Amino acid sequence: MEDFDGSIMDPEIQGIDEELSELSLRPKRLSEYIGQNKVKENMKVYIEAAKKRGEALDHVLLYGPPGLGKTTLSNIIANEMGSNIKTTSGPAIERPGDLAALLTNLSNNDILFIDEIHRMNKNIEEVLYPALEDFCLDIIIGKGPTAKSIRLDLPRFTLVGATTKAGSISTPLRDRFGIVERLDLYSVEDLTTIVERSSDILNIKMDKDAAIELAKRSRGTPRIANRLLKRIRDYATVIGEGNITLDITKLALDKLEIDDLGLDNLDRKILETIICKYSGKPVGVETLAATLNEEVETIEDVYEPYLMQLGFLARTQRGRIVTAAGYEHLGLEYKV
Ligand SMILES: Nc1ncnc2c1ncn2[C@@H]1O[C@H](COP(=O)(O)OP(=O)(O)OP(=O)(O)O)[C@@H](O)[C@H]1O
Ligand SMILES: [Mg+2]
Repeated sequence: MEDFDGSIMDPEIQGIDEELSELSLRPKRLSEYIGQNKVKENMKVYIEAAKKRGEALDHVLLYGPPGLGKTTLSNIIANEMGSNIKTTSGPAIERPGDLAALLTNLSNNDILFIDEIHRMNKNIEEVLYPALEDFCLDIIIGKGPTAKSIRLDLPRFTLVGATTKAGSISTPLRDRFGIVERLDLYSVEDLTTIVERSSDILNIKMDKDAAIELAKRSRGTPRIANRLLKRIRDYATVIGEGNITLDITKLALDKLEIDDLGLDNLDRKILETIICKYSGKPVGVETLAATLNEEVETIEDVYEPYLMQLGFLARTQRGRIVTAAGYEHLGLEYKV
């Protein structure tokens, strides 16, 4: 049995093994992509229309918390368009020349996927604007008085940008995306379907009630559901007969310190810190992050969306507060 320490959201616990099986669990077509119905319906129309006209798809910005399927959807878009996809990330593009190399290697209708696009350099962003709008690049060659600007024509490509922080994208960049779609946390029903699909692919026998239990405790996030499924399988292999029952699921998730609603240690610590260390008064996210020794980004992007969806945490102008429901979940008396 594997030791488990740290949070289930911690990227460091994600081994190569998981990376590989994540690839096989990744849906390839829109029809296999579960949930996110609004986004799916919209994308279906846009893709069909672009194909009918024989044009490249408009630039697409996908945003939402980590692990909801942005990378997956980008690849699906390329598959459905019948186009090639090149993948990079905001921080990986260091100089304008890097971007130029990427763009000039594309063909018509190709997809350029830039993950974490909010972390792209400002000077790169400016090179990108004319590429997105007019499909050309202005490159300066040489330095000083002899410097010359040359204009390169680019193929009609589609930029798909993904980000967990739509708020950190500059307005000029955001405005250049014709299609902007937000991914939401998944419902228990949709996550149950995802868990059932994954267990089929991984050849694991799982009872329906066990799948529902896991779905309830996966904080609306397919990546977490898939990761937990593998840990539960470990328990089933060692203490059960291989198939996953409700009892084994509950036991494994309890051992992983994931509670009935999917909260892990850090979720509970966030709530407890506000209640105990700050007497339930509003706390700024920077203060909260410093007290917990966590990044502001982790708290804002990974933890808060789910705590807020559950209605346990609220943002006020003066800071974060825990709601009556949050106190109740921790078994504490609500007093403010
Ligand atoms: N709609 C879906 N249906 C089935 N499985 C899904 C769906 N969305 C995501 N998954 C599963 O969840 C895993 C994580 O998805 P993905 O890597 O696309 O998330 P992401 O939004 O790009 O995350 P990050 O912000 O961390 O990059 C995928 O490997 C896939 O197996
Ligand atoms: Mg991704």
